[in-house]
Amino acid sequence: MKISMIVAYGKNWQIGLNNAMPWHIREDFKNFKQITLNHHILMGRKTFESIGKPLADRTSLILSRGNFSHEDVNVFTSVQEAFDFARIRGEEELFVIGGANIYASLFPFVDKMYLTQVDYDGEADAYLPKIDFSSWELIEQREYAAIVDECNVTKSPAWDFKVWVKKN
Ligand SMILES: NC(=O)c1ccc[n+]([C@@H]2O[C@H](COP(=O)([O-])OP(=O)(O)OC[C@H]3O[C@@H](n4cnc5c(N)ncnc54)[C@H](OP(=O)(O)O)[C@@H]3O)[C@@H](O)[C@H]2O)c1
Repeated sequence: MKISMIVAYGKNWQIGLNNAMPWHIREDFKNFKQITLNHHILMGRKTFESIGKPLADRTSLILSRGNFSHEDVNVFTSVQEAFDFARIRGEEELFVIGGANIYASLFPFVDKMYLTQVDYDGEADAYLPKIDFSSWELIEQREYAAIVDECNVTKSPAWDFKVWVKKN
């Protein structure tokens, strides 16, 4: 089973503010949905609480060391148990979807990264550890302009999307 990570981060590796995303980019949410659809998605308890409900048409695996429970999700106290659950169910690509804690501790297991870099240099309280791309190969890249309304107000910032695979 391949372990993939999917994350959106700002210019200074920001990923979250007040247990939410610091930006709203509709197209990137659509992209996230398309990539993760019908897969097992693994997240920390805080990220699940920030989303508030299981994401449709995906199997939600939640990591928590406490007594957390919620209907329609699977809760695990260890990463290994969560990996085993997905593997036994025949998953071929498990997605690690955050947050900061989970990205940091699971990074050594990651084989493939789906990265959205956002043109954002504002406030944050959750960060992605800096990635050294020298051991990764870029296999896909797309760029998106900012969306500005008729009053010249930025509706969503510019972003780029890159897919990387770990070099052997
Ligand atoms: N930009 C993005 O793409 C993106 C994606 C996802 C999330 N985020 C942001 O990230 C922030 C949340 O990140 P966070 O670091 O605060 O929280 P988190 O990683 O979502 O969740 C942390 C919790 O997960 C549980 N946990 C962590 N490691 C574990 C392990 N090895 N075994 C069992 N349980 C484990 C613990 O839950 P218990 O306390 O219950 O034990 C811990 O408190 C939010 O701001 C969110 O919006 C951003």
